[in-house]
Amino acid sequence: MSGIVEGRVVIVTGAARGIGRGHALEFARQGAKVVVNDLGAEVDGTGSSGAAAEVVAEIEAMGGQAIVNGEDVSDFDGAERLIRSAVEHFGDLHVLVNNAGILRDRMLVNMTADEWDAVIRVHLRGTFAPLRHAAAYWRARAKSGERLDARIINTTSSSGIYGNPGQGNYGAAKAGIAGLTVIAARELERYGVTVNAVAPAALTRMTENLIPAGTTGADPDDIAPLVVWLASAEARGVTGRVFNVRGGAISVAEGWHAGPGVDKGGRWDPAELGAVIPALVDKAAPNALTNGRVPGRED
Ligand SMILES: NC(=O)c1ccc[n+]([C@@H]2O[C@H](COP(=O)([O-])OP(=O)(O)OC[C@H]3O[C@@H](n4cnc5c(N)ncnc54)[C@H](O)[C@@H]3O)[C@@H](O)[C@H]2O)c1
Repeated sequence: MSGIVEGRVVIVTGAARGIGRGHALEFARQGAKVVVNDLGAEVDGTGSSGAAAEVVAEIEAMGGQAIVNGEDVSDFDGAERLIRSAVEHFGDLHVLVNNAGILRDRMLVNMTADEWDAVIRVHLRGTFAPLRHAAAYWRARAKSGERLDARIINTTSSSGIYGNPGQGNYGAAKAGIAGLTVIAARELERYGVTVNAVAPAALTRMTENLIPAGTTGADPDDIAPLVVWLASAEARGVTGRVFNVRGGAISVAEGWHAGPGVDKGGRWDPAELGAVIPALVDKAAPNALTNGRVPGRED
């Protein structure tokens, strides 16, 4: 198979179904060799099944190359085995797509510590752990004098970067992933590794209770084209960015930045700030709505 990522070795986590499955199939169509990682969890993270093998069979049926990997991405040693499996089986690793995820939605007043920990663990640690081991692999290669053109593509969410009530655990993890993306991009640039993130919107089992039935333009396979492009040589100059993707609509998620400010040149008395802070807040752009749009601003 030939395409824009021909010959690249790619890991996609959580690739047995939903958006990750779409990534794995499009990577294979575009000529990549794919490690299809998934532990086969239910939407809340419990259980395990062999659904990743079906994606590998689909890729092989179209003449592509893929292997199954069943590691839990949030297991630090398991994540190292995941990275190693790509190198051992396909001889290298060029692209890591961190996509695996779970949901345990609950209003904060009722959320249990277990619901908090499980979601933070799979998303945040499950992004950090593969990223950490891939980065160490690439750093060793770069230090030995090789010129790399490697990629990490993380998965965040509008829930985290714009805020969605009822998803405090998930949103905090996804905001963390967006922050980690920016930091990792700065740390890894010197080794020839770009790091970006996508904030997808698609109808999957994860969102079937959140997106109204009959909604169109939200096919999980619509997310893959941007992810595959970010993984290609053409995307070398793009790093540290977060992209919203839904159907054919792609936009850049503009990050936090310092807005209107004031500097007294010394410590404030709290009593002075009532005359200062409301005016600054009035001058500042409002936070984006959950859909990412800033009220009163057209893009
Ligand atoms: N669907 C959307 O609209 C939407 C919106 C924003 C963000 N996202 C994100 O996109 C990603 C994919 O979500 P989806 O909608 O395709 O959901 P999904 O439930 O269909 O797929 C998630 C996959 O991750 C796997 N997984 C869960 N825990 C794992 C672990 N510890 N190790 C390995 N695999 C694990 C599951 O088995 C499942 O196959 C997630 O990170 C999700 O948070 C989705």
